Amino acid sequence: MSVHASAKRITTQVLQEMKHNQEKIAMLTAYDYSMARIVDGAGVDVILVGDSASNVMAGHETTLPITLDQMIYHAQGVVRAAKKALVVVDLPFGTYQGNSKEALQSAIRIMKESGAHAVKLEGGAEVRESIERILTAGIPVMGHLGLTPQSIYKFGTYTVRAKEEAEANELKANANLLEEIGCFSIVLEKVPAKLATEVSDSLQVPTIGIGAGAGCDGQVLVLPDMLGITQEFSPRFLRRYLDMGQQMHDAIGQYVSDVRSKDFPNESEQY
Ligand code: KIV
Repeated sequence: MSVHASAKRITTQVLQEMKHNQEKIAMLTAYDYSMARIVDGAGVDVILVGDSASNVMAGHETTLPITLDQMIYHAQGVVRAAKKALVVVDLPFGTYQGNSKEALQSAIRIMKESGAHAVKLEGGAEVRESIERILTAGIPVMGHLGLTPQSIYKFGTYTVRAKEEAEANELKANANLLEEIGCFSIVLEKVPAKLATEVSDSLQVPTIGIGAGAGCDGQVLVLPDMLGITQEFSPRFLRRYLDMGQQMHDAIGQYVSDVRSKDFPNESEQY
């Protein structure tokens, strides 16, 4: 039996065991109860309450505006739905950088008020102190390297990161550091597949890739993107599993037409 199948609940230790057994980890984002119930029921190992909620739920251009209160609200619904998956919540921009005491307070609020199982934050050496302090409270931390959307104004674009040797070496050093200080897993976003494979092979903890190729220990996609709800976003790494945006459009159009033609509700749909 696979590690996933034999586990009652996915924990950070189960993820470690999955890497050890070369069993790939499936992670998806979710932001509310109804979607998370489906995601959990379909066998996803890790549900990420990503700060991509800022884009796909709230319609902001970047992940920067979402607040800690809003992240906790999204996480509460997801935690109520998740019966097996590990729930990881993003620490939003401005709640952990530069002040490790504030980072710990933010992480504690997420754990206490949502019931989530771990937090994720972006960056390497520059957020070392914050990660170390959060870990002292027994809160598991997932790292995030490569394209880090909270730093979009520093880089200016969402293009592939660490293509040049210097940036690749910096990423490798940061990955080693995150493992060394105790992160249980690291997301690698939009970096060359060769580099992600090298990093994944060199670490004991599992890597989760998004646009980082097949050599990672697991994969993550943003749920509304892979379901085809967000249709304007189509990077090379995004595989669409459904054209849900179109299907919803057609279904809602049919409803509108049924109401207008007085076809809905019919005899059997009323009391
Ligand atoms: O916020 C998010 O959805 C993420 C994933 C893209 C990894 O951080």
